[in-house]
Amino acid sequence: MMIKTGVPPIKSQGIKTKLVPWIKSIIPDDFHGTWIEPFMGTGAVAFNVAPRRAVLCDTNPHLVNFYAGIASGEITPEVVKEYLEREGKILLSKGEEHYYFVRDRFNSEHSPLDFLFVNRAGFNGMIRFNRKGGFNIPFCRKPQRFAQSYITKITNQVRWARILIQTKELTFKCQDFKKTIEEASSTDIIYCDPPYIDRYVDYYNGWGDADELNLYNKLSSFKGKFILSTWHHNDYRENVYIKTLWSRHSILTREHFYHVGGKKENRNPVIEALVTNFHAISTEHRHESQNQYLLLEPQVTYC
Ligand SMILES: C[S@@+](CC[C@H](N)C(=O)[O-])C[C@H]1O[C@@H](n2cnc3c(N)ncnc32)[C@H](O)[C@@H]1O
Repeated sequence: MMIKTGVPPIKSQGIKTKLVPWIKSIIPDDFHGTWIEPFMGTGAVAFNVAPRRAVLCDTNPHLVNFYAGIASGEITPEVVKEYLEREGKILLSKGEEHYYFVRDRFNSEHSPLDFLFVNRAGFNGMIRFNRKGGFNIPFCRKPQRFAQSYITKITNQVRWARILIQTKELTFKCQDFKKTIEEASSTDIIYCDPPYIDRYVDYYNGWGDADELNLYNKLSSFKGKFILSTWHHNDYRENVYIKTLWSRHSILTREHFYHVGGKKENRNPVIEALVTNFHAISTEHRHESQNQYLLLEPQVTYC
């Protein structure tokens, strides 16, 4: 049976919604521990995996505050609906001036509702912060952005996240990945989706060689299971860390398209990788063929 992938209320260029079935398909059947995400992002993976218990962390406080606001009951579908109807009306009459007004307000007051507004009315649903931590995505140029159907869609996404947060044991924390991995225990699964090395960077997504090495060391010495999302190669180049670091573990790959503007090379298909410290076999039923590279024993199998 095909299970539909849920979409969270927050969007971002690195969202893994399309890869969720693949990620879910390699989670071992006997997993009963805590699902740990040191790089939660929009929460798309955790909410779809829907484990009994999860610890979801990120260094971007705005992502964490938004879901913590849902957990505390401060943010409900009704609150979101009322807020978006009010702000949407002003956006319709004032246009981009109001988008930038809310963006400035968010950058000084950090309200989670304003974060939702700029995230959903900003260009391409992107999240990007300047060096001072200010959100700097321009307006999507659609004053009619918050039409009733769009508000209903977002409200339903908040309702979906809220039900999960209320029925599961989910903990949200704003902290660095090193601390999150250190706090995990051997019965847990750590799913890591760090900023992709050598690709997109901003204030909360600065990621360099030292970070990748740190992550490698932390994950390699972790006693439980881990799953890491990273990029393998694209038409222009390869992720050198696959060969220099991650090849000691198992690697599954598949093609994925990111629709991010900006650099031309970022609009091309990317071969995504899932690196694991256990022998993962994808049970996902797919029409396309899927390559599975086991880099230690150079062989290619199709499943
Ligand atoms: C590629 S995104 C995760 C996307 C997520 N899987 C999703 O589907 O939405 C990477 C996330 O890592 C966070 N991040 C960057 N550096 C971090 C660090 N040192 N520790 C923890 N989180 C970090 C960013 O704020 C960003 O939300």
